[in-house]
Amino acid sequence: MLPVILTGGKVIRVGLTPVTKLAVAVAGSVTLSAVVLGVAHMAIADPPADATYTAGMDKVCMVCHKVQTPAVVEAFVKTKHPYAMQKADTPKAMLATFDEDSPIRQADVAYIVNDGSYQIYVDKDLKTLRGKWNKTASKWEPQDVVDATTELIPKHTTGFNPQTHAWSDLGVTCEACHGPGSAHAKTADRTKIGNPKTLAPARQAMICGQCHATGASTDGTVRYAKGYKWGSDLGRYLVLDKVNGPGNKQQYNEWVNSKHSGAGVTCITCHEMHGKGSDKPAQLKKPQTELCNSCHASDVASPKHPKLTPEMSCASCHMPQGMHTWVIPGAK
Ligand code: HEC
Ligand code: HEC
Ligand code: HEC
Ligand code: HEC
Ligand code: HEC
Ligand code: HEC
Repeated sequence: MLPVILTGGKVIRVGLTPVTKLAVAVAGSVTLSAVVLGVAHMAIADPPADATYTAGMDKVCMVCHKVQTPAVVEAFVKTKHPYAMQKADTPKAMLATFDEDSPIRQADVAYIVNDGSYQIYVDKDLKTLRGKWNKTASKWEPQDVVDATTELIPKHTTGFNPQTHAWSDLGVTCEACHGPGSAHAKTADRTKIGNPKTLAPARQAMICGQCHATGASTDGTVRYAKGYKWGSDLGRYLVLDKVNGPGNKQQYNEWVNSKHSGAGVTCITCHEMHGKGSDKPAQLKKPQTELCNSCHASDVASPKHPKLTPEMSCASCHMPQGMHTWVIPGAK
């Protein structure tokens, strides 16, 4: 099978030479930076179309990559992604304390879902239990009882299958961002594994946006990008919600409407998934001020810009409550 690439709605069959140009339409606009890809990255195509997610593949990836790229594996296991969802009996995973006043019984917990400041608990029928644990305040709070397979589990597992509701690995592991990797794992052929950095900027952000966005599936039945395949156009699988305030886990929705998306500044321009900085708050590649000033030093030095004191952070004014909007305070 030759890969099929969608370009602004048109289907192009790509020959044996790897894709050299990926025109990516985001919110109707095609940016020049999104069209030009570096020659050094040409060798890597999408994962083969017939590749499927395989249970336990994260362990397989790590066996080779502990040797091949030890720094990647060492850094990855210190991030939050692999622990996003865990079995209830995983040692040290349970943070809540249980007594007779607890809203739920520990015995009913089958899975622990780590979600920002909260632990949410899921029973064996994959429904949420009616109490969640506030990790920061160390206390119980109410949680609606919902079917966790419509949004929560797909965003906290790797290779979630919409038909069977099974997943290949708990947590966000290698194949969530690299695509199905069994063909690469058999051969160690670098052209058979997806590498987000080889994608055009818009598609790169979509890898993250499959989870860090809110919206409905195209058929309207669930609240995640049902059917999304690595490297494809997320817009075909997810109808994005309007940005509706801070704290709503919509970094992608916010970013897509920001000037950074138009300029090809993507999630992984700022965030490190498994390397230098990935153990730091928000997994930033550099300390925040240094990161922003690597591109904006002259904007900040401009006489129009407010004078900054050392305790001010760029985000406090331009990313209110963590929103990825990069607003100009006071601007319309
Ligand atoms: C049998 C050993 C082996 C297994 C298993 C394996 N890899 Fe690799 N991987 C390699 C080797 C060797 C390279 C370097 C190949 C080269 O440079 O030609 C590599 C390269 C890569 C690259 C870099 C590709 C690039 O951009 O050049 C990525 C990403 C990667 N592997 C991810 C994974 C993931 C994800 C898994 C699990 C799905 C995995 N690997 C499983 C051996 C393995
Ligand atoms: C949350 C997303 C995510 C997960 C999960 C993830 N990676 Fe990556 N990986 C990336 C991104 C993004 C890059 C490109 C690096 C960059 O340019 O910042 C990358 C690059 C790589 C590379 C190339 C390294 C290099 O320096 O060129 C290897 C190898 C790799 N990943 C292996 C793995 C393995 C093995 C796992 C699981 C143990 C894994 N990754 C899990 C996102 C992820
Ligand atoms: C399969 C779903 C999934 C994918 C794909 C994914 N993430 Fe995540 N990510 C999560 C979940 C769930 C959490 C929350 C984990 C927690 O709170 O313990 C998270 C947490 C994070 C955090 C917060 C870490 C912290 O310290 O609080 C950052 C930053 C992040 N992801 C960035 C990315 C980027 C960038 C990509 C794309 C390269 C990406 N993620 C891909 C699901 C995903
Ligand atoms: C221009 C740099 C930049 C880009 C691009 C960017 N982020 Fe962020 N991100 C940040 C900063 C800075 C923070 C911390 C904000 C704060 O401290 O209030 C952050 C915070 C986060 C967090 C929350 C971490 C936490 O601890 O609560 C997640 C998740 C996240 N980003 C995901 C993404 C995703 C997904 C994308 C792409 C759609 C993205 N980011 C694009 C700079 C960036
Ligand atoms: C890799 C370079 C790069 C990094 C890193 C970066 N930016 Fe940007 N930023 C840009 C570009 C390019 C634009 C778009 C400029 C334009 O369209 O006029 C932009 C736009 C902006 C704007 C909007 C300006 C306007 O006119 O509306 C703000 C605010 C901003 N960035 C703040 C930040 C903050 C805060 C950080 C750190 C969290 C950051 N940037 C990190 C390159 C970067
Ligand atoms: C106290 C709030 C505040 C802080 C903190 C702050 N900014 Fe700004 N920033 C502003 C305001 C207000 C403007 C609009 C100035 C103007 O009228 O041109 C602005 C404008 C900008 C612009 C757009 C410049 C242009 O002409 O398009 C960028 C980029 C920017 N800031 C980056 C940063 C970076 C990087 C940091 C951290 C080092 C930072 N800002 C910290 C308030 C702030």
